[in-house]
Amino acid sequence: MANSEKKQWDSSQLRKYDFSLEQIPRLHYKDPKIDELIKQNLPVLITDSNIVKPAIEKWTLEYLERNLGSAGHTVYVSRNHKFKFYDDKKILNKNNPKGVEFSPPTKRAEMKVFEFMKRLREWKRGEKRVYLQQILNSTVGPAIVEDYMNFDWRYVGEKKNKHNWGELTSNLLFIGMEGNVTPCHYDEQQNFFRPNPRCILFAPDQFENLYPHPVHHPHDRQSMVDFDRPDYTKFPKFKNVKGYETIVEPGDVLYIPIYWWHHVESLMRGGPTITVNFWYKAGPTSLEYPLRDHQKVSIMRNVEKMLLEVLQDPKEVGPLLRAMVLGRYNE
Ligand code: OGA
Ligand code: FE
Repeated sequence: MANSEKKQWDSSQLRKYDFSLEQIPRLHYKDPKIDELIKQNLPVLITDSNIVKPAIEKWTLEYLERNLGSAGHTVYVSRNHKFKFYDDKKILNKNNPKGVEFSPPTKRAEMKVFEFMKRLREWKRGEKRVYLQQILNSTVGPAIVEDYMNFDWRYVGEKKNKHNWGELTSNLLFIGMEGNVTPCHYDEQQNFFRPNPRCILFAPDQFENLYPHPVHHPHDRQSMVDFDRPDYTKFPKFKNVKGYETIVEPGDVLYIPIYWWHHVESLMRGGPTITVNFWYKAGPTSLEYPLRDHQKVSIMRNVEKMLLEVLQDPKEVGPLLRAMVLGRYNE
């Protein structure tokens, strides 16, 4: 089925960026090479599987509107096409005097599904965009729960066991408008992802080229670089960034390894997109040398957290780190 003549998009529907991209390997779900890639913490697009078959066959906007239930759902509202994630717990407010002064780039709202769908259907250029991001839990309607139970849990469970991942943390359902973008970030979880039509990935060794916000910042784990208008003066190494991309067909599921950066984009003029992810906790780690790039990212995070804890003031972390390395670790 995954056959390129059936391509349902053309390159004018992709946003244009100024960096080089290679294709992520596509492998049939029974191909044993998938496990070799997962084992090395490398991404792979798994084709023709039944992992989220009920969703692919049934989850149209109409079906979801009828069956998501009346509980209300988390919807992000943005003035532009970008939905950059932020962590509320790191924002300065009465209850959090140590937080960072910050005005969120998107608003989080609770909406009933019909309200969301109405905005989706009636949206016109220039209006605020919406992106529903709802955890699949018992508040969603019974038909959705049943579809969820019919995902191919045997296949994902096998991968989880084989590769020693931790527990499944959650499945998030995304309903997005055409052209919506989740900007580049990494997660501290393994992710099986029925992706949006386009995913751009970067390996953990691209840390320096992508300039993540400091750990104490609400945009922790997000790149500071605006891909639409990169500021090369502030972020000169972004010129060296090298990524991977894939354009997804129905039936494809992408494995995004833990700590791999990802930028997710719905095609322009491609209609709304419906996506599900599977987040798994990291498994127990063993320190085998040489360390892997993603383990080094984790170490950097811990150093930042530790300094913040002892210095008590995020403004002191940078100067201390600079004083520590400048002129000393030049070899
Ligand atoms: C994820 C993710 C973003 C999106 O699943 O980790 O970042 O827009 N998804 O689907
Ligand atoms: Fe993510």
